[in-house]
Amino acid sequence: MTPVRVAIAGSTGSIGRQTLEVISAEPDSYVVVGLSAGSSVDLVVEQALKFRPSLVAMSDEAARERVRDALAGVGGIEVVADATEMCGIADVVINGVVGFAGLPVTMATLKNGRRLGLANKESLIAAGPIVQPLRQVEGADLVPVDSEHCALHQCLRSSVDTNREVARLVLTASGGPFRGRSFADLEQVSVDEALRHPTWSMGPKITIDSSTLMNKGLEVIEAHELFGTGFDDIDVVVHPQSVVHSMVEFTDGSTIAQLSMPDMRLPIGYALGWPERLRTPFGKIDWTQLSRLDFEPPDRRAFRCLDLAYQAGRSGGTAPAVISAANEVAVDAFMSRRITWHQIHDVSAAVLDHSTIVMPTSVEEVIDADRCAREDAERVISGMIS
Ligand SMILES: NC(=O)c1ccc[n+]([C@@H]2O[C@H](COP(=O)([O-])OP(=O)(O)OC[C@H]3O[C@@H](n4cnc5c(N)ncnc54)[C@H](OP(=O)(O)O)[C@@H]3O)[C@@H](O)[C@H]2O)c1
Repeated sequence: MTPVRVAIAGSTGSIGRQTLEVISAEPDSYVVVGLSAGSSVDLVVEQALKFRPSLVAMSDEAARERVRDALAGVGGIEVVADATEMCGIADVVINGVVGFAGLPVTMATLKNGRRLGLANKESLIAAGPIVQPLRQVEGADLVPVDSEHCALHQCLRSSVDTNREVARLVLTASGGPFRGRSFADLEQVSVDEALRHPTWSMGPKITIDSSTLMNKGLEVIEAHELFGTGFDDIDVVVHPQSVVHSMVEFTDGSTIAQLSMPDMRLPIGYALGWPERLRTPFGKIDWTQLSRLDFEPPDRRAFRCLDLAYQAGRSGGTAPAVISAANEVAVDAFMSRRITWHQIHDVSAAVLDHSTIVMPTSVEEVIDADRCAREDAERVISGMIS
């Protein structure tokens, strides 16, 4: 069988590295044709020498020159600036870029009629109205890599008529490192504490988002975009073991859930193999070790970002782009110790409140909304620290 050609955007990150692990587990089934990163020269060179893609894209100019020098004597690898160049030569593109920077790859993959394994939720959340029509391009397919949405995708496989049968989507949340803490308790939490996720090892931005539950709020918007479910029919439940990855409740009262140990290689492999399943098991459950599964409602007062994201999702138009951009800036400011953990919410709420929301009709309007929200977030932060 001809191996599936895979391009990985953000190959040096947590999702990117795990994608290469999955491919290494089934080397006869997949071949890497493209890798892209921002500025991590040494790792991308090491990956290129091992997997021999025909394209390596580096967004950072200085890093690109260094990668070019390092690969100069190696035949068959072209080093370019634009990661979208690899979207037309792959059967599947895994988008593991962090933040809004992932938008061009999301759009180019679908425009080229290829399968998109989407980890980069920010692009779909920010540009939903622009990305949705591209899903109709012949050959284009969007398979979610986020574990919750991968779980929903799997649960919905059992449905004959999703529109008529589905009553509710239930997204699970681990609760992050601060589960059980009160609003007052969270006043002084540090960056190091916020980065200590109890069940998942991920990149820093999503780890901070998990600590605020903004990640879950963004995932609610992502679920709405992916499956077309209304916001009133998407719920969140805290499940600290991260074994049930999400559930679909049907109109007859049945709930179907997807379970596996927390291991992102499973949803990555699901997107690579779709509609078939990988032969290699990742995250298999040992039922002699798993003794309990707990569920509790989220504390919406301590973790205010959850409802803020619902509010942005319900507003629609450019509101999700605004909240996602403001949150990115606020998370950066928190990580560089310029604002407190609670202020991540306050910055995002202030920017959403200031913004004029429109229904975008072009990608330029989404980019503009993103830029304005970032500028406003910087202004709000400057006001907070002056
Ligand atoms: N990690 C997880 O388990 C997980 C789970 C679910 C969803 N996700 C989602 O997957 C995405 C990636 O998360 P991650 O945890 O893998 O992040 P990460 O570890 O921080 O990796 C981010 C990747 O994006 C690249 N990158 C950063 N800025 C870029 C730019 N301007 N242009 C091109 N590439 C750029 C980085 O390259 P450099 O190394 O060169 O900076 C790196 O390869 C996020 O949207 C996240 O929400 C992640």
